[in-house]
Amino acid sequence: MTKPRKILENFLKPFFSSSNKGKNDDLEKIAAQEQKQFSFGVLVSATKDFHPDNKLGEGGFGPVFKGKLSDGRQIAVKKLSHSSRQGMKEFKNEAKLLARVQHRNVVNLLGYCIHGVEKLLVYEYVANESLDKILFKSANRDALSWKQRHDIIVGIARGLLYLHEGSHTCIIHRDIKASNILLDDKWVPKIADFGMARLYPEDKTHINTRVAGTNGYMAPEYVMYGHLSVKADVFSFGVVVLELISGQKNSTFNRDPDSRSLLEWAYRLYKKGRSWEIMDPALAQSAIPDEIAMYIQIGLLCIQADPPLRPTMQQVVVMLSKNPGSLDREPTRPGYPGSRIRSHRPGGGTSHTAGTSGASNPSTFSSSSISNTVSATASSSTPTRRRSDPHGKRPVRD
Ligand SMILES: Nc1ncnc2c1ncn2[C@@H]1O[C@H](COP(=O)(O)OP(=O)(O)O)[C@@H](O)[C@H]1O
Ligand SMILES: [Mg+2]
Repeated sequence: MTKPRKILENFLKPFFSSSNKGKNDDLEKIAAQEQKQFSFGVLVSATKDFHPDNKLGEGGFGPVFKGKLSDGRQIAVKKLSHSSRQGMKEFKNEAKLLARVQHRNVVNLLGYCIHGVEKLLVYEYVANESLDKILFKSANRDALSWKQRHDIIVGIARGLLYLHEGSHTCIIHRDIKASNILLDDKWVPKIADFGMARLYPEDKTHINTRVAGTNGYMAPEYVMYGHLSVKADVFSFGVVVLELISGQKNSTFNRDPDSRSLLEWAYRLYKKGRSWEIMDPALAQSAIPDEIAMYIQIGLLCIQADPPLRPTMQQVVVMLSKNPGSLDREPTRPGYPGSRIRSHRPGGGTSHTAGTSGASNPSTFSSSSISNTVSATASSSTPTRRRSDPHGKRPVRD
């Protein structure tokens, strides 16, 4: 700074000090926003001290509370349970990274908070909450017409494609399910809980406590061998598609005594040329039969037992926009825990990661946990050997 200017500033200081202070406060606020860091006090008052009345639900990672910031914005605060061994610095880095993930079909992570041992995530509040609360409660189900369900399927597919290929780093969600699909006031779907594996790498105790395969969304190769690729998300997406069309929850399926799951039921009917029979009766008025038949076929392609046969999300997005009747890919048998999975493809290499976009290209994985997990799986030369996934196993509540 030049000398005359400094003298002038010193002279003017007393006159402007109070407004400067305000300015500095603002700057600090802006800086804090840039950092995406929330103070614990702000979250305590926003959620009325995490009052049970404000609890939206509780999943495998801890409870979620509704809150309101002093500027009127509604938020959802996820309080991570303490068992993760992840260090504060790593958590901070991952949270910052994920806060940069932005897409119309992915819930907005506003920021995070670290307070003592507490780690919290702050999301935008999504007005209609989660798909499970609407789809699996008979009183609410009529709310969703076929057009809306169609748009929800397309939206989830786009969000997932973005997570896999469109953001700065490939994010395998690992926990796509109806309760992680939030719906806004216009029924636009938003994928929630993305990147939890990055924020919350599990320790060994958690690996052991996971009840594998109980929730009905996990790909069989992931449940049984810990093999992880984007195709595990494709599988879970396929389950959500069939749930949206049938109104049935896969994990509590009991519509057909001859079928172990919604997936098997849908496949059997498809093979008999009667796939439309899985349709939710609540769709009777709004259904477009050809479109529904095509979407069932796409759902079945996604849940095939053999991961390489499942389409990528890019291919799914293209298929969803086709004219009904023009889809010529035939689904093979669906996978469910216990079903036989082909673990070797002719010519060697891994079958479970072959063809997964990004997985073979290390440059798409810019940072730690996912990259390590995926490349550990992708580089496995003995795919049939049981291989533990360091972050993917966690308790499943449904
Ligand atoms: N951003 C949000 N806006 C509105 N509701 C939310 C939000 N995040 C989570 N929820 C609600 O809280 C529930 C619990 O969330 P979570 O802990 O992720 O458990 P899970 O997804 O396993 O049910 C969700 O299913 C959803 O109904
Ligand atoms: Mg969730």
